[in-house]
Amino acid sequence: LYGSERQNSKGLDLSSEHVLAALQMGLQGSEQQQWTAFPLLGDADVSAGDSQPVRNPADHADIVGQVIEATPEHVERALQLAEAAAARWANTPVADRAACLNRMADLMEDHMPALMGLAVREAGKTLSNAIAEVREAVDFCRYYAAQIVANFDNATHQPLGPVVCISPWNFPLAIFIGEVTASLAAGNPVLAKPAEQTNLIAAYAVRLLHEAGVPRDVLQLLPGRGEIVGAALTSDPRIQGVIFTGSTEVAQIINRTLAKRGEDVVLVAETGGQNAMIVDSSALPEQVVTDVLSSAFDSAGQRCSALRVLYLQSDIADKVIAMIKGAMAELTVGNPAKLSTDVGPVIDAEAQAGLLAHIDKMKQRARWYYQTPLTEQCQQGTFVPPTLFEIDNLSDLTREVFGPVLHVLRFEANELDKVVAEINSTGYGLTHGIHSRIDETINDIVRKIKVGNVYVNRNIVGAVVGVQPFGGEGKSGTGPKAGGPFYLYRLTRARWQPKLA
Ligand code: NAD
Ligand code: ALA
Repeated sequence: LYGSERQNSKGLDLSSEHVLAALQMGLQGSEQQQWTAFPLLGDADVSAGDSQPVRNPADHADIVGQVIEATPEHVERALQLAEAAAARWANTPVADRAACLNRMADLMEDHMPALMGLAVREAGKTLSNAIAEVREAVDFCRYYAAQIVANFDNATHQPLGPVVCISPWNFPLAIFIGEVTASLAAGNPVLAKPAEQTNLIAAYAVRLLHEAGVPRDVLQLLPGRGEIVGAALTSDPRIQGVIFTGSTEVAQIINRTLAKRGEDVVLVAETGGQNAMIVDSSALPEQVVTDVLSSAFDSAGQRCSALRVLYLQSDIADKVIAMIKGAMAELTVGNPAKLSTDVGPVIDAEAQAGLLAHIDKMKQRARWYYQTPLTEQCQQGTFVPPTLFEIDNLSDLTREVFGPVLHVLRFEANELDKVVAEINSTGYGLTHGIHSRIDETINDIVRKIKVGNVYVNRNIVGAVVGVQPFGGEGKSGTGPKAGGPFYLYRLTRARWQPKLA
């Protein structure tokens, strides 16, 4: 079921001087290039028009490239071409579609320095996050290729027709590629609408997919604003499926748009979370601290899976909090291109302002707070210090806080059921962590907690394709889980029909 022949990609060994030197050279090459993103239509590259600069979130003086946004005319042309291409791609044997995905995986491994360079400079990813980004994208390609060949044929599973893939900036390659390649594998022409902040890496990836053999009219790129280009696509009757990853609020807008269309349009929406971890007094404090830090502050907390609320049993709370503060003091916040950096920038000034406003508000309400000091260099970009608050009430958090901010709550040994009920009452249901050495406690929480992914005695980020299929429930998403065995089924319609002679 999971493709026994398939292996997840190995990434790069950064402890090898040789690998590191080659990577540094590749990254420097990427820095010297002026990157561009523009509408890539089935019959034209729209490389002329008004362009907007893309700035490095770690250093606003660094212009990474230029973007030309799609106009309503480009959207209309792309829809016509996608409709015309639908039957041809649907009738392309699944083995041929899978071969395109496998070639794409190989191409991304060959182009790793350029892709990593863009993940660092356009999205502010640290080097280790940038490696993970490319690896996950490669894994999605090989996983969905294996799935389509093993489980589908062109007769029983019919593609939906043209679909739109709308993706977020926080996994600008991995989630973009995951959505696009699953849709292509299932036989659907794709109109790709990446996040405004990360068009450059998406454009590079689309060109690689064309090189891998995906016809241009089967995969078209439409950079542009969500509320303009995204809204035009989701409301168009020719679109048969919307594959969306992003905020709960935008998923709700899309849901209403599709409902107004009054027809059965597939919506896959993977959204935000208010993720918690419960740590009881039997847990190993050293392991808790390591896992809390990576869950809350890796990727500057800009993961849907990231830890937002840490419940500590009061017997051990003071000790664990002191250790977390000590570890936070050692974090290096700064230039993500440096190997020594632990926490990079947040994506843009709007995100920074929202997070700083939340921090200011919580400073008034929280019992105390601790922040990792920022270096001088952080003035050049949009940085937010990793911040820890102790709060009294989960109701202080009304929505997802998408950055490096962690909230601690204490609980007593007899309050576990109350804690689980409180977490469930948020209505989100993405990830959850448990640190305990008592099987009964672990099993009890696992049974009662309503989330898509539960992790025990480890961190709660970094789900691996084919190993931890990823996705939430409630306000966190519709499912099916990305990188899991049921994903492709949602992107097709099962049809029983006699085999034709
Ligand atoms: P966002 O919702 O602001 O934007 C996501 C995408 O939707 C972008 O491409 C945007 O242009 C588009 N969009 C915006 N308005 C639209 C509209 N009216 N119609 C159609 N499309 C529209 O999210 P973001 O800030 O890019 O990403 C961060 C969010 O994504 C967080 O909430 C995070 O939790 C979530 N996320 C979820 C997962 C998951 O797998 N569950 C993974 C990564 C990120
Ligand atoms: N799949 C990503 C993670 O698990 C969002 O962190």
